[in-house]
Amino acid sequence: MTDSTFPSKSVSSDKGWSNDNDRTACLVVHPHLKNERGNLRSPQARLDECVGLALAIHVDVVHSEVVNIARPKPATLFGQGVVEALATTIGRVDKSKNEWDEGDIGLAIVDASLTPIQQRNLEKAWNCKVIDRTGLILEIFGERARTSEGSLQVELAALTYQRSRLVRSWTHLERQRGGLGFIGGPGESQIEIDRRLIDERIVRLKKDLTDVKRTRELHRKSRRNTPYPIVALVGYTNAGKSTLFNRLTNAKVFAEDLLFATLDPTMRSITLPSGRDVILSDTVGFISELPHELVAAFHATLEEVHEADVILHVRDASHPDTEAQRADVLDVLKTLGVEDKLEDCLIEVYNKSDLLGDEEIETISTRADRSEGRIAMVSAITGQGCEQLLNDVNELLSARFASFELDIPYSDGQLLSWLYSHGEVISRQDLEGHIALTVRMNDANTSRFKQKHPEFFEPVAPSTEETEPKKWSPT
Ligand code: GTP
Repeated sequence: MTDSTFPSKSVSSDKGWSNDNDRTACLVVHPHLKNERGNLRSPQARLDECVGLALAIHVDVVHSEVVNIARPKPATLFGQGVVEALATTIGRVDKSKNEWDEGDIGLAIVDASLTPIQQRNLEKAWNCKVIDRTGLILEIFGERARTSEGSLQVELAALTYQRSRLVRSWTHLERQRGGLGFIGGPGESQIEIDRRLIDERIVRLKKDLTDVKRTRELHRKSRRNTPYPIVALVGYTNAGKSTLFNRLTNAKVFAEDLLFATLDPTMRSITLPSGRDVILSDTVGFISELPHELVAAFHATLEEVHEADVILHVRDASHPDTEAQRADVLDVLKTLGVEDKLEDCLIEVYNKSDLLGDEEIETISTRADRSEGRIAMVSAITGQGCEQLLNDVNELLSARFASFELDIPYSDGQLLSWLYSHGEVISRQDLEGHIALTVRMNDANTSRFKQKHPEFFEPVAPSTEETEPKKWSPT
């Protein structure tokens, strides 16, 4: 058992959440199934992660513990003894009076998936609010969603979850508001929402989502047409993506020592030391065992990864579970269908090098030296290694982008302007009757170009009388 005091976070008062002086005291419990296999993390590490998630909703975690369970009980998940022991810890059970004592633990977070019945029974036994892992992550997603699609997806996920239990009002999900739906006395926020109303709202949400997706697709199309390559930052939650994004763009994005500081992608353009412009895209943090209700919402925020020319996998190299986190991230990328990109365009970024010992630094640098630019070691905080990382990105892009030497007749102004807007013109020579261009293009634009202008790719006939100077050669 660990009694913990965590550093305070200031919370903007207009959000209506608990503030520093008025935080809900919270207990976090991680149920560890004795015979559980296949999870690389220790129960303590998983508990710590859950405590980190709890901090992201601005509660005071005053107690956290791992509880071993031999067999889950259908009614309460935990056995009777554990339920009673935790009730004592929560310390506010007065069944005869059913009183609510302010200042006591007001929220218990169970790091598992609870059935509605288990949730209700535990609330009764502990006389406090109980949420499970899905509920917790929904709270976080609800607070953090920033684009309309993100908010809609989270709201849809929350309503579907709520519909299956009809125990809570997810007041924070009335989009304009923010804040926690469950904090307050038991019963206080138990607004019964009638199933019909939820269904109506789900129908409306789905329609809104279709509209938003259509707009988003249009935006994506126009972005695809930009000549700038896209560099996407992905990684486990709290790995330091937003900090690195800020460091590389000198921009201010929402970076905090909280999990899920980013829910929706943020994009900025930056110029690499080589002079090449790229678009940098920050994405939502990954997490293990994402509740299935949330997968769609999460994937919606990762669409940029499909478009990415380079994926920077940011890792917290100082984290004890860094290898398990890496495996999780790669699994998610595979389920997103970008497996082929892992081979060709992924750079693994070992972040937080300032927290590493000499020996670890030595090991990682050796690995980086041998990786031909596919492993980088940085500290987003101090900026160390960032210049090299940008050079690595440049190298990878140069390797991936095909260059073409083309002779374009002056009369073909349309083609010329297409090449300028879809490719990177490396050199141009205005000659008599035609322009000699060297253009670099990414895979997508190269195949579009081939489709539009197959004549450039036909073998040049062995004729002595060349009429038009059309030729191509990848350099
Ligand atoms: P999510 O939005 O949850 O996915 O997090 P993130 O990956 O964007 O992480 P973020 O940039 O918010 O950083 C998380 C914490 O790690 C913050 O407290 C940062 O200050 C800290 N951090 C990030 N990079 C470094 C680093 O290079 N060194 C050290 N010491 N801390 C770092």
